Amino acid sequence: MSDQDTAVLPDDDLPPERRPSEHRYGRAPVSDLPHDAHPVTRWLDSRLPVISTFRREYVTYPMPRNLNGLWAFGAFITVTLVVLLVSGLFLAINYTATVAQAFSSVETIDRQVSSGWLVRSVHMGGVSMFFAALYVHVWKSLWYGSYKAPREVLWLTGMLLMVMVMVAAFAGYVLPWGQMSYWGLTVASHALSSVPLVGGPLSDWLLGGSSLGDAALHRIYVLHFLTAFAIFGVVGLHILALHVTGSNNPLGIEVTSPRDTIPFHPYYTVKDGLGLALFALVFAALIFFLPGWLTLPDNYIPANPLSTPADITPEWYFAPFYAILRAGGPFGLVLSAGSLAVLFAVPWLDRSEVRSARYRPIYRWMLLVLLASAVLLGVAGFRQPAGVWLVLSRLATAYWLLHFLVLLPLLGRIEARPRLPASIAAHEGVAA
Ligand code: HEM
Repeated sequence: MSDQDTAVLPDDDLPPERRPSEHRYGRAPVSDLPHDAHPVTRWLDSRLPVISTFRREYVTYPMPRNLNGLWAFGAFITVTLVVLLVSGLFLAINYTATVAQAFSSVETIDRQVSSGWLVRSVHMGGVSMFFAALYVHVWKSLWYGSYKAPREVLWLTGMLLMVMVMVAAFAGYVLPWGQMSYWGLTVASHALSSVPLVGGPLSDWLLGGSSLGDAALHRIYVLHFLTAFAIFGVVGLHILALHVTGSNNPLGIEVTSPRDTIPFHPYYTVKDGLGLALFALVFAALIFFLPGWLTLPDNYIPANPLSTPADITPEWYFAPFYAILRAGGPFGLVLSAGSLAVLFAVPWLDRSEVRSARYRPIYRWMLLVLLASAVLLGVAGFRQPAGVWLVLSRLATAYWLLHFLVLLPLLGRIEARPRLPASIAAHEGVAA
């Protein structure tokens, strides 16, 4: 190679964005690690900055100093996701995705594979723990207005995760090929087929035909673990978006100076760690003392296409959406999908400049009614859609849509603007 090949062009001959001084070429690699770090670590980090990136994003990273325990739920979901992926891999080793063997392979995991019962219990209980934490996480974001500018993309990646998580959970529930797996899939494929024009072909394409057999089960299996790993990738985007804006906080005002912040470590590693220990205790209680509490006994009966269960009910985390599906009659699918879809638009539907419900007295009440509606729909999902439960489901569905589509945009116009604290530090009484 001649000298000319390696020579760097003089800066002035290049447009600014292509000047060597503006990019990395020709510079000795440097590490952002402190100078007292081990020389080998610094050498490696200057070439592959994993440790310094982790340090910047999770050790010295400035966090608002006033976060409460609700901010630990993102960590709970992340850890539970890892638990689900690892336990799922162990289950996959022994699972057989055929109509003839799916049910018995799951029974074999439960009864004969060494510690198989534990792995399965962790996986099934983990899904319930995951959804419980996820719903609290979303609720916290609604309460404190964490979806508002500049965190809209953070919110959208979260909503994308919610949809993916629902797909993965539904697909996973089909895999044991028990009665509820089979009939749940039947309800879903009928609901999809009822969509005019595209529904039928789409359902056939996804499930490999109109009858539910090996082709459908295979596809559902692939869908299950594909979405599970894709979720992991999208969580990366979610965290990336979070670290661009930084976390919101209970006051809903932005960080204005370093006095408003404390480093992630040790303050929030310790706080999240304590929360995780408590979360793990509840998780353990569910696995070891109440393993069948949140699952439906009908799924321990092998799928029988000739015998429809008296009532087809979903797992608890789908119950509100199922109640809307059944309460809506011919519009059930549109309403159920719409009640989820409307959440995507929340950052633009809410016009108020104030984030936290702490300073929005009317919004606070509206959110509490919304929570009551969601709980009511959750209960209604397990009841026959008739009589008083049908009326209540319809009222709760109406409030859900009214809240997001009408009240939220209106409230931003009529709400009085409160006096917000000057800064987080001032509110917390931190000396200048
Ligand atoms: C697999 C699912 C998810 C994972 C693993 C996850 C993880 C996290 C983590 C670790 C944080 C930082 C800690 C915290 O604020 O709690 C966070 C923040 C956040 N997430 Fe998620 N999340 C998920 C789903 C969602 C969903 C469904 C939404 C709502 C649509 C959402 C919206 C947000 C928002 C707005 C924040 C910032 C909160 C704030 O600073 O106040 N996330 N997420």
